[in-house]
Amino acid sequence: MSELTLPKQALFNPYDWSFHENPFPVYEQLREHYPVYYNEELNFYALSRYDDVVQAFKNWPVYSNSAGVALENVSDDVSKVFSILGMDPPRQQAVRGIVRKVFTPRRIIELEPVLQRLCQEYIADFADNGEVDFIEQFAGKIPMDVISEMIGVPKQDRDRVRNWANNLIERVDGSPDIPDIAIEASIGLLGYFGAMVAERRQAGTSDDLTAQMLAAQLDGERLSDEEVVSFLFLMSVAGNETTTKLLANALYWGQKHPEQFAKVQEDHANIPRWIEETTRYDNSSQILYRITMEEVTLHGVTIPKGVKVALLVGAANRDPRRFEQPDIYDIDRDLSQNVAFGKGVHFCLGAALARLEGRVCMEELFKVYKGFQVDEASLVRVHSGNVRGFSQMQVRFDRK
Ligand code: HEM
Repeated sequence: MSELTLPKQALFNPYDWSFHENPFPVYEQLREHYPVYYNEELNFYALSRYDDVVQAFKNWPVYSNSAGVALENVSDDVSKVFSILGMDPPRQQAVRGIVRKVFTPRRIIELEPVLQRLCQEYIADFADNGEVDFIEQFAGKIPMDVISEMIGVPKQDRDRVRNWANNLIERVDGSPDIPDIAIEASIGLLGYFGAMVAERRQAGTSDDLTAQMLAAQLDGERLSDEEVVSFLFLMSVAGNETTTKLLANALYWGQKHPEQFAKVQEDHANIPRWIEETTRYDNSSQILYRITMEEVTLHGVTIPKGVKVALLVGAANRDPRRFEQPDIYDIDRDLSQNVAFGKGVHFCLGAALARLEGRVCMEELFKVYKGFQVDEASLVRVHSGNVRGFSQMQVRFDRK
């Protein structure tokens, strides 16, 4: 256990966190010295130990999603923007039951050839010397293309939709304010999905996600256009940047630990473990907030009703109480306790899809190339309250 070196207030600033090279010593100090941390300035609590984070995920009547999963309150009715992620059961479970049909293992595996084709097309456009802007030319493209395929965005609109989705999470350094570029992106995306849903309501059948939601009934009533739009918006927030960042994080940590990447080079069957360990070690989604519905006491600290509590998934996944030598990046470790995709009623609906995307993207890249170098001087981290990873990364891939 390290000495406590930071003053308590400076310990955890959620607005600086995403672009710190190494937030893990701070997590350690929280876990060891402040298992229930309180940030007076911003009036929120944070849980960092594995068992505490998991029990909070499971205890939805106390730790509620009804105020969203960000520190800032988005609007009066969060579910209008964040759909099921801004709801509690039973409504959350009922709506989730409708959309879950598009995320079954069978439906997800059907996307494999679509993904392979997309990867091959983007890889064919890489420069002959293998130099690429990895986010711009690959990792930032695939996730939203897949979502567009699932929800039925026509090909000619996909670039526009992807640009909006990529701009949604931009934040200014150390500030809670939402910049114009992100506001314009959410207006653009909500407007686009609104028009798409209205048109699809008229046009009728297809078996994509949008059609299934429009046809579904809950308690004898159809979902409103607004409810369908908010789920499409949630997909664009939850399934896009997270997956983009995962792909780049895997290359970054693979380069930092060549002995681990060597295992992937030797046998591509190790790719899923590489992806999974990356989500444990440095996940793209590391902070999810809840709001307390009643007073709760933990480790001798009473958290009042009606305050935000940060569940630090990234800290939980490095808790030595749960993982042996947690700061070692080891693709062969037991990953069955990984909480990168959450736990309980809100467990990531897209987890199987994210894992498929991670696997297929790396399989396709390393069918063509044998290795890579990330240009560390080119790296730029995204500034965001919830997502961690790179917005710029130059990579040179070496042909076989
Ligand atoms: C590396 C990639 C991803 C990570 C790390 C990730 C992580 C998470 C986490 C931690 C949650 C739980 C949130 C909470 O409890 O408040 C969640 C929920 C969710 N994720 Fe993912 N996710 C990823 C990819 C995706 C993809 C590809 C999709 C779909 C296209 C997706 C769709 C969703 C949805 C719809 C929810 C809300 C579920 C609910 O509220 O019932 N995610 N994700």
